[in-house]
Amino acid sequence: MFNAKEFIEKSLREIKIVAKDAKVISACSGGVDSTVTTVLVHRALGDHVLAVFIDDGLRREGEPEFVLRTLKNLEINTKYVDAKKAFFAAFRAKIDAEEKRKAFRDTFYKTFGKVAKEENIGLIAQGTIKADVIETVKGIKSQHNVLEQIGISPERYGYKILEPLKELFKPEVRKVARELGLPKEVSERMPFPGPALSLRVLGEVTPEKVAIVRKATEIVEEETKTLDTFQNFAVLHNDKATGIKNGNRLYGNIVTIRIVDSQDAVTATARNVPYEKLSRICKRIVQEIPTVVRCLYDITDKPPATIEFE
Ligand code: XMP
Repeated sequence: MFNAKEFIEKSLREIKIVAKDAKVISACSGGVDSTVTTVLVHRALGDHVLAVFIDDGLRREGEPEFVLRTLKNLEINTKYVDAKKAFFAAFRAKIDAEEKRKAFRDTFYKTFGKVAKEENIGLIAQGTIKADVIETVKGIKSQHNVLEQIGISPERYGYKILEPLKELFKPEVRKVARELGLPKEVSERMPFPGPALSLRVLGEVTPEKVAIVRKATEIVEEETKTLDTFQNFAVLHNDKATGIKNGNRLYGNIVTIRIVDSQDAVTATARNVPYEKLSRICKRIVQEIPTVVRCLYDITDKPPATIEFE
């Protein structure tokens, strides 16, 4: 049986041994994994820790503000890095899912490399968990935060990596978050992938397409708050479809809604959501986003599908 208190004590000892007196950057996206990691290194090393939030332009509505507010409330020194331009430049003309993941990963680590150099820090903490490692090593997909386990040395980006959660699954991370006394909006936060909305824009990722999926995501999340599911989100297709808006033909966008139950993200089942609820989400999406003409619901479990589309 997993004991969160013992894990925290052991982890604090280990972090102190690895970091010694060195300064550490903690990559924090605001999700439960990276926030728990940041709080652990901060508890172990105090002001030797600098949390870094990279704004890649791919976050959900209000998310950058949420992350900065949370870290401020936790009294952790934080640096905001606006890297939107670099990420969108890296995605230009890329349509293949793995190529896009690699573009994200490369830009993510290069951006950290730059910050590490500026701050003169050689150690970066990140919230990799066991499921990330398993799926990457199995070759299902290259999670953005898995490097060493697939033979890429992080030192090529100019630093070493500290991963205090790499032996834990999500339910255990949540237990650690509760034991650390983190607010519920963090400990119970719905999983959100590191590469963020880029996994939910099929085809080339552009600021315009991200804006569409951001709005659709906001609607799905608002309408599914009370469903108590593992993950709820929207995906923007690369294809278009014929529709009618304001009495005119519109060859417009297609959005898929995905709502799944899962324990640890390794397997998942699509939720049997009441039709009235789905219909309301669909109506809002096509009414509130001018370019969307069609809305679909994905009923595929994992496996054979994965939770995300890319
Ligand atoms: P899949 O799509 O593999 O997703 O069934 C399993 C869980 O992992 C999340 N996910 C990611 N998280 N970096 C992350 O930090 C990634 O590259 C990534 N890809 C998928 C996904 O949202 C789900 O919770």
